[in-house]
Amino acid sequence: MGKLQDKVAVITGGVSGIGAATARLFVSEGAKVVLVDLNEEKGQAVEAELKALNAEALFVQADITNEEQVQHVFSQTVSTFGRVDIVFNNAGIGVTKPTEEITYAEWRKTVGVDLDGVFLVAHSALKEFLKNGSGVLVNTASMYGWVGAPGNAAYNAAKGGVINLTRSLGLEYADRNIRVNALCPGFIDTPIIPAEIKNDLSSITPMKRLGKAEEMAKAVLFMASDDSSFMTGNTLTVDGGFTAQ
Ligand SMILES: NC(=O)c1ccc[n+]([C@@H]2O[C@H](COP(=O)([O-])OP(=O)(O)OC[C@H]3O[C@@H](n4cnc5c(N)ncnc54)[C@H](O)[C@@H]3O)[C@@H](O)[C@H]2O)c1
Repeated sequence: MGKLQDKVAVITGGVSGIGAATARLFVSEGAKVVLVDLNEEKGQAVEAELKALNAEALFVQADITNEEQVQHVFSQTVSTFGRVDIVFNNAGIGVTKPTEEITYAEWRKTVGVDLDGVFLVAHSALKEFLKNGSGVLVNTASMYGWVGAPGNAAYNAAKGGVINLTRSLGLEYADRNIRVNALCPGFIDTPIIPAEIKNDLSSITPMKRLGKAEEMAKAVLFMASDDSSFMTGNTLTVDGGFTAQ
């Protein structure tokens, strides 16, 4: 029996990087997964890859900043798999620019995906969890929600918001069998990190390397499974020592 046997998991940003690695690990632990992303080409590819392993997987193209599309993700999940047990609220984007040069539209877009989108997915997830009388929500924040970084004002603000949103939701639903926690990754080798800065980011990480998406997936599995059954409103920082400095 896998740690997520027959659980239904919705994974946003599920076709790339941390989300795709988590989808692979979740199906290996017996879960049925719904991959949610803007990127249709990667979505079809990851869905096909998982189905080739005899896993139950469904790609739903959606923009997490669009309320109707998010609601559609959950109604399609329920009509396909019957329920929602786990939501990995993970899709995100970054913008790195001196703050005086960032446009208001760029600020809004970043906060729109990284905070508003996380809220919209949580909002629909909680409704399903309340119907079931149980559920687990894992939000992807960042170590950049704990510490500031020059040129990352919008991202820092949004990810800090996700950490406190996680505390707030953890408390609000703690006595209703719904757990809410957040993953705070350090620098992880995924397409969100431009190739030309990977060496610099490795050198400023105490472990002198980038993390792997598969290493994040193991932390997500811990938070999504009963292994973390007494944990809510909390964060797990997986950053090669960066925030210990
Ligand atoms: N890689 C890192 O170093 C790092 C560090 C800290 C936090 N994170 C966070 O981890 C999460 C996953 O990032 P990743 O590193 O796997 O990057 P990634 O770019 O590989 O994956 C992010 C996915 O989110 C999708 N996405 C973006 N906007 C969307 C939207 N509006 N609606 C639906 N899907 C959307 C993208 O298409 C992409 O597939 C993000 O929230 C990111 O901020 C990453």
